[in-house]
Amino acid sequence: MKSLSLEDKNLIEKLKSLPIDYWDFKGEDTKELTHGLHTYPAVMVYPISRKIIDIMQETHQLNSLLDPFMGSGTVLIEAMLAGYKQIYGVDLNPLAQLITKVKMTIINSESLKLESENLYRGLRDNFDSLSVTINGLNEYITSEKGLDVSAKTGWGDSAPNLIREYFNTINFAYDIPEYKNIGYWFKPTVILELQILKNAIKKESDMDIRDFFFIAMSETIRLVSNRRNGEFKMFRMPADKVLKHNPSVLAEFTKILNRNIEKMKDFERICLEHKFCPEIKIVAEDTRQLNSIPDNSIDIMITSPPYGDSRTTVAYGEFSRLSLQWLDLCDNPEDTTKIDSKLMGGKKYAKGFEYDLNSETLRQSLDKIKSVDLARAGDVYSFYKDLNDCLRAVSAKMRENSYQFWVVGNRIVKLETLQTDKIITELGVDYRLQHIYTVPRNIPNKVMPSLNSPTNIIGEKVATMTNEHIVILRKIKNDCL
Ligand SMILES: C[S@@+](CC[C@H](N)C(=O)[O-])C[C@H]1O[C@@H](n2cnc3c(N)ncnc32)[C@H](O)[C@@H]1O
Repeated sequence: MKSLSLEDKNLIEKLKSLPIDYWDFKGEDTKELTHGLHTYPAVMVYPISRKIIDIMQETHQLNSLLDPFMGSGTVLIEAMLAGYKQIYGVDLNPLAQLITKVKMTIINSESLKLESENLYRGLRDNFDSLSVTINGLNEYITSEKGLDVSAKTGWGDSAPNLIREYFNTINFAYDIPEYKNIGYWFKPTVILELQILKNAIKKESDMDIRDFFFIAMSETIRLVSNRRNGEFKMFRMPADKVLKHNPSVLAEFTKILNRNIEKMKDFERICLEHKFCPEIKIVAEDTRQLNSIPDNSIDIMITSPPYGDSRTTVAYGEFSRLSLQWLDLCDNPEDTTKIDSKLMGGKKYAKGFEYDLNSETLRQSLDKIKSVDLARAGDVYSFYKDLNDCLRAVSAKMRENSYQFWVVGNRIVKLETLQTDKIITELGVDYRLQHIYTVPRNIPNKVMPSLNSPTNIIGEKVATMTNEHIVILRKIKNDCL
């Protein structure tokens, strides 16, 4: 493999000269500007990509950036604020695509003010005129039908039919959502109030403003649902908490939309001041393919890929499900429950696999895991096989000599530490990716499951990830191999 260039050595020197806590960001506000419009799991806080971009900017004139696992678009926003001309983001999750689009679309604050006032006016009218119907629904389900709205059956699995039945008794016609188990996740009045909100937002004719409103509705959906707070997986509150949970859709939505309007105002001001107007391409594609991005076109890549498969680590699809359903973000409603199986590590190798990846470190770890749990080894292999395909696809899109910054975490499975930082450098060799340097960093403010059971023995817990690494790779020329 090629030896390091002067440019590489200078970059390493620069990184080594930084203080030990340079990448920590303890106690910093990481939600400024449009970064704070919507929650997303395992967000890589913006100061990381901002600092990487700043360091590179000191010595390089870069125009195009790619984040092949953009999630909620943090890296892309930072590229926009740094004046990049072409910005590409990729993600298979339709909610991630919508959040990123909204966070990066500058909306004129006067129009936003006007349209939000219209929306609030319309909502107040609708809620006032339908208040008897809303209250009557609760009364009908709990008193007349005698149903327990915290039960899995009765209300939980038959909510749409029961709401329709109620509407018939009062001669009222209105859309009702039909998602499976909707009653398990929402109480009667919450469903009707969300539908009123959705109908009002759909009246907005400016599509950018409409999407901006929908993102506030998406945040509202999570808060007014029966989901347990602070969890990215779909766990429901215990029944007694469901019974006491009486959120107001209108109050929650108003709070979130007002907050988001302020954040967009700040974002608009900065973008106009600096005349930021990049070409942005949000790609709804599998990163293992990346057909819609031209080869050899990207100057820099910064990303934080998933830590492992969605089933045993962070379930992006599961986190997004209720929003995907309410906002009709999947053409086929059945796809709303299938996202996680399409993401990295989604394919199962429960009965074993033929090891065919170019990483000795991974092979050794898999042998250890295989000896205690073949199915778990299959999950791990599935994830790294996909990561390998992503490295191949991403590398093809990068210009020669361009740098890639992979922010990865090492996790523990069956007491075996999977050294993703090392594995990625070994896998990259096949795709002309030279390892330049690896920066370790603590993760004090990443919202992640911090404890789990690596042995699957109930009660036995170890930290999953306390630190991560910024792995720097560089695509070398063909003749340097
Ligand atoms: C760690 S998150 C990225 C978070 C992001 N840095 C942010 O600031 O929000 C990883 C993302 O990779 C996406 N993803 C996983 N597998 C994928 C695949 N095969 N193709 C495209 N996106 C994928 C997930 O949907 C998720 O949004």
